[in-house]
Amino acid sequence: MSLSIEKSSFDALPREVARRRTFAIISHPDAGKTTLTEKLLLYAGAVHLAGAVQARAHQRAAKSDWMELEQARGISITSTALQFDYRGIRVNLLDTPGHQDFSEDTYRTLMAVDSAVMVLDSAKGIEPQTKKLFAVCRKRGIPILTFINKMDQPGRHPFELLEEIEQTLGMTAVPFNWPIGEGAAFQGLYDLREPQVLFFQRTAHNQRQAPMRVEAFPHPSLAATLGEAYGPLQDEIALLAGAGAAFDRDRFLAGELTPVFFGSALTNFGVEPFLNAFLHYAPPPGPRQSTQGLVRPTDEQFSGFVFKIQANMDPQHRDRMAFLRICSGRFEKDMMVYHARLGRKIRMTRPHRLFGRDRETIDEAFPGDVVGLVNPGLFAIGDTLCSGAPLAFDPIPQFPPECFGLLRSQDISKQKQFQKGIQQLQEEGVMQIFFSPDHVRREPVLAAVGELQFDVVVSRLESEYGVKTTVERLPYVLARWVSGDPVTLARMYWPQDTLRLADRDGRMVMLFGSDRLLAYCMKENPSVKFQLASELAPL
Ligand code: G4P
Repeated sequence: MSLSIEKSSFDALPREVARRRTFAIISHPDAGKTTLTEKLLLYAGAVHLAGAVQARAHQRAAKSDWMELEQARGISITSTALQFDYRGIRVNLLDTPGHQDFSEDTYRTLMAVDSAVMVLDSAKGIEPQTKKLFAVCRKRGIPILTFINKMDQPGRHPFELLEEIEQTLGMTAVPFNWPIGEGAAFQGLYDLREPQVLFFQRTAHNQRQAPMRVEAFPHPSLAATLGEAYGPLQDEIALLAGAGAAFDRDRFLAGELTPVFFGSALTNFGVEPFLNAFLHYAPPPGPRQSTQGLVRPTDEQFSGFVFKIQANMDPQHRDRMAFLRICSGRFEKDMMVYHARLGRKIRMTRPHRLFGRDRETIDEAFPGDVVGLVNPGLFAIGDTLCSGAPLAFDPIPQFPPECFGLLRSQDISKQKQFQKGIQQLQEEGVMQIFFSPDHVRREPVLAAVGELQFDVVVSRLESEYGVKTTVERLPYVLARWVSGDPVTLARMYWPQDTLRLADRDGRMVMLFGSDRLLAYCMKENPSVKFQLASELAPL
């Protein structure tokens, strides 16, 4: 009896891996990521989830105590995970925050995906944040599908957009469909894979799935239907057939080539064919590098890593959730796993499936899935969990802070909540905290990648921990961990515009007012090490 159960679960693993697609949408703010996410969920039938995203898109009007700053600013700061089934495929969409100050969180999320969708605004093309996010995908060799959005509005010529992708990102762009007309005269899309035309129909109510009228191409009536756009379309198709690059699956999987789709998320146009193509072309979970060599998703041994920690996701449950990406084997509720950093075994009690802010307990999960673990301080970003022989996945990159500020509590009687708040936000990776050596000065120094993170810290300390705080900006732009012979360190001369601090483990950290100042100190003290956080040896 037990043998047959084991056999069937063994067979299930490759099948479950093959039907997983785990991806993120990357874009510059305002290109339409939230709208496309919502529409993908709508087409996949996960309407209850689409509602959640919709609520976020219109969060300026919504009122709840979740992430008050997001609502006040109308931006998304925290990333969430959405899981849904469509045509037998289990899709994990890891949402990423759109604001550039939160790119660190986005970078971590990109460590957990197997492919990405790049959304471009057809009028703007590649924008600064697109480039930054693309660079991370490229480094990881993640395959990217491109969705050129807002075709219902005047935009740049499609050839120009393709050329920009090729020149700016160094990736071959292969269109899978082609817009007919533009802006107010936009008529639809020519499907380059199965010669047919999809007619654009403006829907009065953009919440519903748009009807799709398709006609084979060439068709005798098309010239009359398309009118003036017919001639240019014929020329462009001929040009693409002659000069356009052909799709090559291996180059796509290596991140060297991107299939390009045009459409309009707001008006639901081109979203359904894009979703179908995405599920067809995007790869299932692949192998990952670890200290024990390559880990394959179909390996029986379970493994995964924590890529995100989020406190107080749900005001009903004021707890911390660790997001675990499963890399191999079958995850089971209550299983014992080895925690590589702590060097001991722990039980996987209360694993959750996440839908944005909602959660539900699960019994099992497979590679590609993201499991939420309630985190009683056990997990940190980058932790590997596994069954069987101990292993650890490659570390998640850390970004050097560039903004510094003194964090002051306005309420002396709330020291305990203040300490708890800053410790938890630090664990989430929202910011780092430094202290004055020997605690001469009580206020901690916040170090963040972007300035908006200070507002997040202040807002979250107040709404989640009940502590009012202020941040006074400090005039430093970079931090280095300084180490060397204690006598040399004690005698060192520190010029003005530097500040000596200690991290929470007591290591010496110096802040510098400019690159030039750091270069000077390095030159004057050749025997002293000036390191970034990412270069430090583990304690
Ligand atoms: P983001 O998550 O990438 O930041 O972008 P988001 O989806 O919030 O879209 C940014 C703006 O672009 C929104 O308008 C949205 O309605 C609009 N948009 C998205 N897709 C399309 C499209 O296909 N065509 C057109 N014309 N507009 C599109 P908004 O006015 O800033 O917000 P809202 O009031 O519509 O929510």
